[in-house]
Amino acid sequence: MKMKGLLLFLSCVLCVSADVLHEDSYISGCSDSDGEDMYGLDGEEVWYADFNKQTGVEPLPDFADPIDFPGHYESAVANLQVCRSNLKTRRDAMKDIPLEHDAPSAVMIYTRDEVEFGEKNTLICHVTGFYPAPVNVSWTKNQQKVTGSSINVPYPNKDGTFTQISRLQFIPQQGDIYSCAVEHLALTKPETRLYDVKASGQSDPGVGPAAFCGVGLTVGLLGVAAGTFFLIKGNECS
Ligand SMILES: *[C@@H]1O[C@H](CO)[C@@H](O)[C@H](O)[C@H]1NC(C)=O
Repeated sequence: MKMKGLLLFLSCVLCVSADVLHEDSYISGCSDSDGEDMYGLDGEEVWYADFNKQTGVEPLPDFADPIDFPGHYESAVANLQVCRSNLKTRRDAMKDIPLEHDAPSAVMIYTRDEVEFGEKNTLICHVTGFYPAPVNVSWTKNQQKVTGSSINVPYPNKDGTFTQISRLQFIPQQGDIYSCAVEHLALTKPETRLYDVKASGQSDPGVGPAAFCGVGLTVGLLGVAAGTFFLIKGNECS
């Protein structure tokens, strides 16, 4: 009976998670100067149109199975034209309705990998909760502008706002300070986040985790030994 209860509980958890197992999304949008056409899956970009390079981009990592998107770039261009003409019509029709502006609700800066001095890493500036898209993100290193960062296309959130992620490759060196500055229509001055390599660096990464692992393993083995002892003892008694 108990077993049946457990099974029912488990299958219930499974069916709940099956409801939201994967989330497919598609967005097509435009402004006078900008446009976006993107297929997303579970919060990741699967395909987007790069209108500057005039091609489709599949930013999935190498381990994923490639998916073909034949003719998608051409459709994206057609969608963009339709969008611009719709935009013009609606702007004329709704000229008295003010556009909604939401400044980013959160800007976060962090590294992709654990910091080790001298080891290649990526700084990430994660901007979310803004409307309309896009934001501009610029980077500095020790207060000097740096170039070479990349930014992904705006990803739609459930509440109608957007998320954008800017990345900067860097090599952590003690004493370096990085910043990302976010510009958005609804901000009067850029929103800036600092990243201080000194505060997050780890000069000796080996010892801490290894020590924790050792202690954890010892405690675990002691537990198993104690459990076995009492199990045998209990069996002897009965
Ligand atoms: C982003 O930068 C471009 C080019 O410098 C500028 O035209 C645009 O107004 C900026 N956008 C925002 C939201 O600041």
